Amino acid sequence: MPLPPARGPLSAATIAALVGADSNDLAAQSESLIVTPGSAVDFFADEDAQLTLTLLYELHLRGIVGVDDGLQWDPGLMTVLAGLERHLDRAIDAAIGPISVPAEAASYTVGELVRRTVDDDTAGVSVHVRDRATVGELTELLIHRSLYQLREADLHTFGIPRIGGRAKAALIEIQADEYGGGSLPRMHSTLFADTMAEFGLQTGYMYYLPVVPAITLAGLNVLSRFGLHRTHVGELIGHLCAIEMTSSLPSGRYVRGLTRLGASPRARRFYDEHIEADAAHEQIAMRDLVGGWVDSDPVRGAAVLRGAAAFLALEDRIGTHLLDSWSTGKSSLVAPVPS
Ligand SMILES: [Fe+2]
Ligand SMILES: [Fe+2]
Repeated sequence: MPLPPARGPLSAATIAALVGADSNDLAAQSESLIVTPGSAVDFFADEDAQLTLTLLYELHLRGIVGVDDGLQWDPGLMTVLAGLERHLDRAIDAAIGPISVPAEAASYTVGELVRRTVDDDTAGVSVHVRDRATVGELTELLIHRSLYQLREADLHTFGIPRIGGRAKAALIEIQADEYGGGSLPRMHSTLFADTMAEFGLQTGYMYYLPVVPAITLAGLNVLSRFGLHRTHVGELIGHLCAIEMTSSLPSGRYVRGLTRLGASPRARRFYDEHIEADAAHEQIAMRDLVGGWVDSDPVRGAAVLRGAAAFLALEDRIGTHLLDSWSTGKSSLVAPVPS
C-alpha cells in the first residue's frame, strides 16, 4: 500500500512513527490525539482516526511501501491500535444496538435480518445504479469499492485456521470460489480489476486510499477488527454471511445498470459472476458455516448476528453518503481523483 497523506494530527504522528520516529512517544500522546466524538457512531466519520486504523491494520496485511515490515507487532503502534479499537467497538455497538438471540434461532435470525435489507427493491445504491446513475457516479462507486474488492476474501480467510469441522469446510468452499479456484483470471479481485480497467481506473492495491472518505475506510476497518482478532471470529462469520446474502440480487441490478450505460461484457463480468456464485454462497454460509459454527451456542449466535449487523450498518451509512452526495451534485470522494 502506498503511504497516503495524513488527515490530522494522529495520522500525521502515526505516519512519522511508521517511517522512523519513536513509536513509544506516539503511544504516550495518542490518547490525547484521539478526538472523543459527540456520539459513539461519529467515530466512523473521523477522517484522522479511520485513516490511522487503516494504516495500522495494513501492517498485518500486505504492508506499506517504505515502512519496515518488522513493525507489525511494534508495542508502541499496538498501543495506539488498541486505543482506536476501543472507540471502534463502541461505534459498532452504538450503530447496531443490543443483540440477543436464542441459539437454535441463530441461523434463521441472521437470515431474517439480512433479507429485510436485500428485499428492498425501491431504494439503495444498486437500485440507483440500475435506474439512473451516471458514468461519473458509477466510476466513484468503483473507487469506493476498490479498496475492499481488490483484496476480496482476504480478511475472511483469517477465519479458516480458527474454526473446525463443518463450518471450516464451508468457509473453504466459499473462499475457494472467491479466489477463482486458484485461477488468477477468475479470482473475484481480478474480475473487479477488469471492471475498473474498462472504466479507465487504476487497479493498484489501495491506489485510491487518499480519495475515499472515513466512512468507506470504517467499513474496511470493521472487517479488519473482526478478521485480525481471534476473539471476533463469530463476527467475522456473520460479516461474511451478510455479504453473501446481500450480493446476488444487487449484482443483478448492477448488471442492468452497466448494460444501460453501454458497458462491455468484460466490464459486467464481476457482477455477472456474483449473481450465481453468491446465490450458492448464501446457502452454504447460512446452512453450513453459520449452522456448523453456532451449533446451539447462544454466545456464538449473538457474535454472528453482531458481525452481520455491523456489516449492514456500515453498508447503510456508506450508501447514504453516496446517494446524499450525488443527489446534491457533489462528489462522494474527499479529494480529486489522481489521473
Ligand atoms: Fe466474490
Ligand atoms: Fe461470494
